[in-house]
Amino acid sequence: MKKMLLAAAVTLLSLNGHAAQDPQAVFDRACGVCHNGQLPMAPKKGDKAAWEPRLAKGMDTLVLNVTNGLNAMPPRGLCMDCTAEDYQAVIKLMSE
Ligand code: HEC
Repeated sequence: MKKMLLAAAVTLLSLNGHAAQDPQAVFDRACGVCHNGQLPMAPKKGDKAAWEPRLAKGMDTLVLNVTNGLNAMPPRGLCMDCTAEDYQAVIKLMSE
């Protein structure tokens, strides 16, 4: 069973491009704590209007701001093992 799950995960990841982790899983585990609407300052997942001015800064800036932390957002957004690619994938997921 474990092997099957692993195979499924690998298949999923290869479809997902460069991100090493499943963006939805990262969101559920880390970012979602704040980006689900509980924290008014944090742009909510799926809230396009809230994300628009953020995306206008450019993806590189956004990834940098998550990595370093921004105001009420702690450094790395509580995902200690996320790579820049993982952040990019989650940011895309949250802003759609
Ligand atoms: C503890 C709460 C918290 C967690 C956890 C968190 N964030 Fe945030 N995030 C915030 C807050 C608050 C802001 C708004 C910061 C501001 O503009 O003052 C923010 C803003 C952002 C922005 C916009 C940055 C910008 O330059 O405008 C991005 C992108 C982002 N978060 C991504 C993530 C990702 C990806 C994760 C998970 C890996 C994550 N956040 C986890 C609270 C959080």
